[in-house]
Amino acid sequence: MVIFGASGDLTERKIVPALYYLAGLGMLPPEFSVVGCGRTPFSHEQFREKMRQAVTEFLRLPAEESAAFEERFGSRLYYLAGNFGEPVAYEQLKGLLNQLDRDKGTAGNRLFYLATPPSFFPLVVGQLGSAGLARPKDPRGNWTRIVIEKPFGRDLASARELNRVVTAAFNEDQVYRIDHYLGKETVQNLLVFRFANGVFEPIWNRRYIDHVQITVAEDLGVEGRGSYYEEAGLLRDMIQNHVLQLLSLVAMEPPATFRADAVRDEKAKVLRSVRSFPAERVHEFALRGQYREGLAHGASVPAYRAEPKVAPTSVTETFAALKFHIDNWRWADVPFYLRSGKRLAKRASEIAIQFRRVPHLLFRDCATQHIEPNLLIVHIQPDEGMSLRFSAKAPGAIMQIEPVTMNFRYGEAFSSSPPTAYETLLLDCMLGDATLFNREDAVELSWELVDPILTRWREDGEKGLAFYESGSWGPAEADAFIAADGRSWQQPDITH
Ligand code: BG6
Repeated sequence: MVIFGASGDLTERKIVPALYYLAGLGMLPPEFSVVGCGRTPFSHEQFREKMRQAVTEFLRLPAEESAAFEERFGSRLYYLAGNFGEPVAYEQLKGLLNQLDRDKGTAGNRLFYLATPPSFFPLVVGQLGSAGLARPKDPRGNWTRIVIEKPFGRDLASARELNRVVTAAFNEDQVYRIDHYLGKETVQNLLVFRFANGVFEPIWNRRYIDHVQITVAEDLGVEGRGSYYEEAGLLRDMIQNHVLQLLSLVAMEPPATFRADAVRDEKAKVLRSVRSFPAERVHEFALRGQYREGLAHGASVPAYRAEPKVAPTSVTETFAALKFHIDNWRWADVPFYLRSGKRLAKRASEIAIQFRRVPHLLFRDCATQHIEPNLLIVHIQPDEGMSLRFSAKAPGAIMQIEPVTMNFRYGEAFSSSPPTAYETLLLDCMLGDATLFNREDAVELSWELVDPILTRWREDGEKGLAFYESGSWGPAEADAFIAADGRSWQQPDITH
């Protein structure tokens, strides 16, 4: 495995800890080796020491395990410093990979991982192609694959251009566009829940479902990533990728098989059916906000505009609420409300499926004025699980109906703790399973959906930007946005 951007944050926080974890489970072959590539000069030993510190910190290793890092895993790590815009660096890389094939028996399989800033993606991909390192299979039948991190483009045009560059060097089946949300246990479980149970699929449609809400809320702010975030904003950072992936898994038709292309065909069909709205009507379907100062975990936190590397007059959105319609037989007239933001009241990602109300209120004369409709909530994180709300008669002589909740929690039902998303995804691409990765068409389709919103917001400047206090559930305008349809947000709670 070759990691470009090996001296960066992602390598330390996610990639190498995930590899260490997989190695500990015995899921990597003994020959498996990693070559880190970056511009910062390190020796192999310095790189190993840096990775030991990172793994110790991010996996919270006990002292004795940290001391044994080199022997257990560190000796498989190598480092190559160079300018990866220059062909000479790829000649050196080729030499090192051939040497590892000989010395370690790595047998010619290559997994390239692009963990660099996105502006380097086309450069590295192009150079891999010219250096002859992108070949689909070598004469011995060994494979070459490439993992590309997000963001995949910054709008439709740049995503198309990146796809063009990538697919000029690699075949589509060699390309693994990562979206770490797809590796989350609860996200994968959505497919199992829908397609391995008989009772839900028959009611998973417009006849029984009133609307769907997808919330991905974070209590963190931009955490020192001000310059990146100023360029990105919430729509690009969370909605175009993670949230639209969740939407497609909730809404897709059952695939013919559980193979990568069958699943990805169905997901792409959902995105193709989402109604696009013209630029002049964007404000009816999309709302944006930005956090002001407030509280996070009881401590005062600054406004977005006062964060380091953020312009004091920035109009970058840190919150968005959207309403999408999926124009197909299953979902016609069922709105999908999507919401995501930074510095909200708590970290919680949830999908709430609200069913229709009962057609006739039989218990009219009872003490209860109002019967809550059934609600199924998929708790993606934290407290992974699901809950189903239904009505029950409260014990007593009078007829009183109250909502009660049935809960399933991963932590209680299964004793082992789930792997993080990166472990699952890295293993999948080594095994050649692209089911949980994004295909070219889905990436472009999701940009097609967000592009008109981005354009409109850019033209509007500050007009229409709603501010909210850090630690709240977003701007008051977001409540009015959904209330206009006679509905309200399902606030994540801690009691499920
Ligand atoms: C990343 C975004 O893709 O996802 C971050 O760039 C965000 O801004 C993160 O914080 C959220 O991921 P998770 O797994 O913590 O929900």
